[in-house]
Amino acid sequence: MTAGESGQPLANLPHSDLQALERAWSDALEKVSGANQQLDLSRGKPGAEQLSLSVALEATIAGNYISADGTDTRNYGGLMGITEARDLGAEIMGVPAAEIMAAGNSSLNLMHLVLSTALTLGLWGDDRKWRNSETVKVLTPVPGYDRHFVLCQHFGMEMVNIPMLENGPDMQRAAELAAADPSIKAIWCVPKYANPTGNTYSDDVVTALAELPNRAAANDFIVLWDNAYAVHHLEQPGDTLASIRDAATTAATDEHVVQFASTSKITFAGAGVGFVASGAKVLQNLMAHLSVQTVGPDKVNQLRHARFLNGRVAEHMAAHAEILRPKFALVEEILTEQLGDLAIAEWTQPKGGYFVSLDLLPGLAKQVVTMAKESGLALTPAGATFPYGFDPDDRNVRIAPTFGSLPELAGAMEILTLCVKLASARQLLAQS
Ligand SMILES: Cc1ncc(COP(=O)(O)O)c(C=O)c1O
Repeated sequence: MTAGESGQPLANLPHSDLQALERAWSDALEKVSGANQQLDLSRGKPGAEQLSLSVALEATIAGNYISADGTDTRNYGGLMGITEARDLGAEIMGVPAAEIMAAGNSSLNLMHLVLSTALTLGLWGDDRKWRNSETVKVLTPVPGYDRHFVLCQHFGMEMVNIPMLENGPDMQRAAELAAADPSIKAIWCVPKYANPTGNTYSDDVVTALAELPNRAAANDFIVLWDNAYAVHHLEQPGDTLASIRDAATTAATDEHVVQFASTSKITFAGAGVGFVASGAKVLQNLMAHLSVQTVGPDKVNQLRHARFLNGRVAEHMAAHAEILRPKFALVEEILTEQLGDLAIAEWTQPKGGYFVSLDLLPGLAKQVVTMAKESGLALTPAGATFPYGFDPDDRNVRIAPTFGSLPELAGAMEILTLCVKLASARQLLAQS
């Protein structure tokens, strides 16, 4: 039998069949466990083959450090970034270059900058500073990106979960909460190929998000638009995302939407260029804060990136997709083959991004992560996709297929699906 040797929902099986399967899966897991393997499905980073797509970055400077506007990129200054790097940001983000700051190697760093500026100096050069509020709360669609949650915790901000639906965050809930509570100051969004759910926000959700600052009780509410996977399609045509910039212009909230992107998963994850885009006042106030930290970003790296990528981002991302598509296809194939008919798990089939989100029977995520670890497979800690590491249903597991080779991925998925089947069978046996 395929589909995990039962071919029908596990919950429908007689006790004795379930016991037999439990024994068979336990034996199978023992056989594949511990063969000195160091399998890992937790690393949401590009594999070596992907990094090699960008080795030509090195050759772009060739002694010529002068940018298009005559800036000597080797020297200090240029806090907004060089012109052609901002053009690159425009190509990735779909926002006019004039509204973009090109910075150092990390967009996460820029998110930190935005939160700390909002708290202390304020984003608009007036008396609206989050520190004036006794409590600062942020809406967090869940499951979501763990580092957004860590940033909030770092700054002492409380997180208020809202459900992530197929088309994006539950906007009715978001609007009700924000309208009722002036201490709610922001909402996190990963609008395209979200981490970890892989979904892309619908046009209606984008419009509702652009209008959210108008509906919020706080007059210093912002939408944190982390478009980390803006151009990271696995298939063509990929998902399309409406422009929050255009929607915000219509809603007159352009100074309340802050967008982020980077080349971390386009070129080198540790040596790329980060971008932040917003209204002029916000950029000015971010600069005021940033200028205390640095005299300017690494403009040589910006120049390298612009020369390597400008005008050919889509072509370059198509080469990434060629490498990644078989990996995501393998994950989908093994999940379907092993868990497809058992009614013990649901998972996403993203058209882009870096993750597959796997939901188990409630109460099993921690157990499966522990079992996998004991069998030689590292998974992202259970709960990491929720604020404070607490998944209320203990059911979400994030799968990152990008980093390992196909054989490693196959081995890892075999262990993962065995652990899921085994834990589910044991739970059902205990309940029957
Ligand atoms: C949603 C999201 N935002 C930001 C980042 C990190 O971006 P950067 O490398 O630009 O700091 C990641 C990395 O996994 C991510 O998934």
